Amino acid sequence: MAFQLPELGYDYGALDKSIDAQTMEIHYSKHHGAYVTNCNNAIAGTEWDDKPIEEIMANISKVPPAVRNNGGGHFNHSLFWSILSPNGGGEPTGALADDIAGTFGSFSAFRDQMNTAGATRFGSGWAWLIVGPEGKLAVCSTPNQDNPTMDIAEIKGTPILGIDVWEHAYYLRYQNRRPDYLKAIWDVMSWDEVATRYAAAK
Ligand SMILES: [Fe+2]
Repeated sequence: MAFQLPELGYDYGALDKSIDAQTMEIHYSKHHGAYVTNCNNAIAGTEWDDKPIEEIMANISKVPPAVRNNGGGHFNHSLFWSILSPNGGGEPTGALADDIAGTFGSFSAFRDQMNTAGATRFGSGWAWLIVGPEGKLAVCSTPNQDNPTMDIAEIKGTPILGIDVWEHAYYLRYQNRRPDYLKAIWDVMSWDEVATRYAAAK
């Protein structure tokens, strides 16, 4: 079963307070679309072509580079769309909020750490909030389309929040001002989805 673009769940213009409709349309239909097509082509006829994306990620050292880049792109963007919402913003609540405050000192300290991880990622990549192997929250960053579920990742864990810091994610509105994009994205953060992923990862 070939991979497919997941449902976006909202219109291209729905996140406009943080991300413009044209960026969303190109990002989802062209960039993510190409990752899906290229990943499917790269795994066609190999032992990986009926494997779940999670299993491919966990064995990424054994697959060709095209699967690492495009399969990673598919995994990462599928997570990214799901943790954004037109009804997002504000702060987390409940166990996730307590864990963030306990781990990072405060919600704003956590957000600063995420923004720094994204802003200082040279070139293209991602900033992540992960649940690590011992169940501890951590902030980290990966280059290109790598992610913390890959067996080659420097810092491993289950990502529950990921921010795309490739220029294609923000350039039309923010140009070179990546920090402004990072500041704005919290206004569309779906803490419900992040909390669901947090509970599943724990
Ligand atoms: Fe992207």
